[in-house]
Amino acid sequence: MSKLTVVRHPLIDHKMAIIRDKKTNTKDFREAISEIGMLITYEISRDFKTKEKTIETPLIKTTVNVLKNNIVIVPILRAGMGMVDGIHRIIPQAKIGHLGLYRDQKTLEPHVYFNKLPLNISSATVLLVDPMLATGGTVSAAITILKEAGVRDIRYVGVVGCPEGVKKLKTTHPDVDIYLAALDEKLDENSYIVPGLGDCGDRMFGTK
Ligand code: URA
Repeated sequence: MSKLTVVRHPLIDHKMAIIRDKKTNTKDFREAISEIGMLITYEISRDFKTKEKTIETPLIKTTVNVLKNNIVIVPILRAGMGMVDGIHRIIPQAKIGHLGLYRDQKTLEPHVYFNKLPLNISSATVLLVDPMLATGGTVSAAITILKEAGVRDIRYVGVVGCPEGVKKLKTTHPDVDIYLAALDEKLDENSYIVPGLGDCGDRMFGTK
């Protein structure tokens, strides 16, 4: 069964207060989303496997530990892009894939319009990134695409989730762990998370 972790930390709480506030400007919003991505990833990476490597310090040979698996960050366009910078700053060797999905207005089914994943992704640990876990439909479809590409170690990284989205992911992909900075109360009739922060993509890119 997938594990849900709501990462609690005073710095995350402080940055959550910034992004929830409707008065926060685009620049501060974008910076806080990116930094939350970094702080959550610090927690997610706690169980990443390491391997020993011999190097030379300026004084002697010694054994150090480095990450064992390749890491790939996969943002779901477009809001996922806002978290990539922060995550990449602490895992700079990570490769980055991109998935673009839109929801058909009639059927509400997610469709892929862009899919560019790194070669050899199947053996990597993949951090699938999308700040808002609302209905869970898009994230669930993205996980299916990653599994079809052969990926076995997938962790979903979001900022705000709600019980509906968590339930959907736990049902469709019980093997994928969920990491959030906050679990909110519910979805409203327009599928916005409440209390939430509004449209994350619009607030991040200043499109409204
Ligand atoms: N996507 C958003 O940007 N905000 C929500 O509240 C739900 C989905």
